[in-house]
Amino acid sequence: MARSLFDKYGGFANISKVVMAFYDKALDSDILGPYFEDIDMRLLIDHQTKFIASVMGGPASFSNDALRQVHADLEIDRASFDEMSRVLGETLAEFGLKAEDVSLVIGEIQARASVIITVGV
Ligand code: HEM
Repeated sequence: MARSLFDKYGGFANISKVVMAFYDKALDSDILGPYFEDIDMRLLIDHQTKFIASVMGGPASFSNDALRQVHADLEIDRASFDEMSRVLGETLAEFGLKAEDVSLVIGEIQARASVIITVGV
């Protein structure tokens, strides 16, 4: 079902627009901005593209083990995780995803909370 969301909303051609919007919001966020302070901007865009494509069931999908490894040293707490989830949901809604499809994507994000959150658990 998640794969069809990626296709339904135009694949990578359209995802690039979502990425730009999400990128701006993440950097503007007082909570999320600091996580990306020392990160190469190309990496950030790459992250956002993979992030969105993976949670929409696109070809760039990651195992939980891979996600755990990538985020292990980032000290992500529940508040930051939820902020990421909120900002993504807001972006997807602005991008024209139906409310039920936004919920599906956010469900995919929330299902990975225990893999990403390493602080305060
Ligand atoms: C389900 C939720 C998430 C998914 C699916 C996800 C996905 C990813 C992926 C695939 C990468 C690796 C990109 C690459 O291969 O270059 C990555 C890196 C990264 N993620 Fe996430 N992410 C999630 C949540 C978060 C959250 C909540 C934060 C911070 C609040 C975050 C911050 C970062 C940072 C800073 C990197 C770069 C690490 C580095 O290159 O040193 N991610 N994420």
